[in-house]
Amino acid sequence: KRPAGAPNAKLAREVTKVGVVGAGLMASQLALLFARQLKVPVVMTDVDQARVDKGVGHVHAEVDKLLDKGRISRDAANRTKALVSGSVSKAEFADADFVIEAVFEELSVKKQVLAEVEAVVKPECILATNTSSLSVTAMAEDLAHPERVVGFHFFNPVAVMPLIEIVRAPATDDAVLATAFVLAKALKKTAVLVKDAAAFVVNRVLLRLMGEVTAAFDEGTPAEVADNALAPMGLPMTPFVLAEMVGLPVAQHVAESLHAAFGDRFHVSANQQALIDAGVKGLWGTGPDGRREIR
Ligand code: CAA
Repeated sequence: KRPAGAPNAKLAREVTKVGVVGAGLMASQLALLFARQLKVPVVMTDVDQARVDKGVGHVHAEVDKLLDKGRISRDAANRTKALVSGSVSKAEFADADFVIEAVFEELSVKKQVLAEVEAVVKPECILATNTSSLSVTAMAEDLAHPERVVGFHFFNPVAVMPLIEIVRAPATDDAVLATAFVLAKALKKTAVLVKDAAAFVVNRVLLRLMGEVTAAFDEGTPAEVADNALAPMGLPMTPFVLAEMVGLPVAQHVAESLHAAFGDRFHVSANQQALIDAGVKGLWGTGPDGRREIR
């Protein structure tokens, strides 16, 4: 059955090479997923060779973990590793059919990156953004071909989270949207079409939850007490564990975007900012008995 809002799959373009802009945590998880599931070459780019090498190294390490767990054959592991390459030059995207950016969550940075990519890709190449909170419409509007842009938002950890939020901007072409849905299926993910509103759907819900926890923290409840209070509530991870996985600065940044868009419905935590300023990565470590304990 066709997902709600998905155009006819017959309109979809073939994807035989993928580009990933960025080689950070999210980008390298994306590169691995595309290479493993689509079995096509994937090239990652970043601003310097050290970052590129780190990103490719991360992909290799994740493949090795899958191999150790017996989740992937040695042949498939070698094939997947060989499909992923890295470069400091976006010229590598010249023959790509689908390029996704996963760079810093700042509109001006994303616009600049997309313009640079558009300058080197072929006319029918699709430009996707993994933004979690910014306007896809704004990202596309200054490009020569805004109709090639689509939001394609994954969740962390990419390998296990089943959802992709697909975002259609006013200019997005039906063939581009159809390709996004077909790709999501090939990646074995569930795709939902969401409106181009700040933080779409899932992060709005998550950030309301996180906002109430950090509001309690700002009002004087110690963070670990607020976080522990939610442990028996059946969440897969308590809010601060989730925020650490996503990165506290990223969580803070998304809260700020949502506050800017929706006002006081979203809380920006002064105490969480103080933790970030102090270089704290998260609240929890593992104690000698394997149970979590405050760092
Ligand atoms: N990378 C790859 N695989 C991972 C992983 C990671 N970072 N973390 C866990 N996994 C795998 C494990 O290896 C394991 O796979 P196997 O069955 O093959 O061994 C499987 O996932 C289950 O893991 P565990 O048994 O260790 O742990 P769990 O049952 O507690 O599940 C979890 C882990 C799936 C991450 C779960 O805790 C969860 O769903 N957490 C919530 C995650 C979430 O809400 N993500 C959204 C974040 S918001 C975001 O990403 C948006 C944004 O834009 C900022």
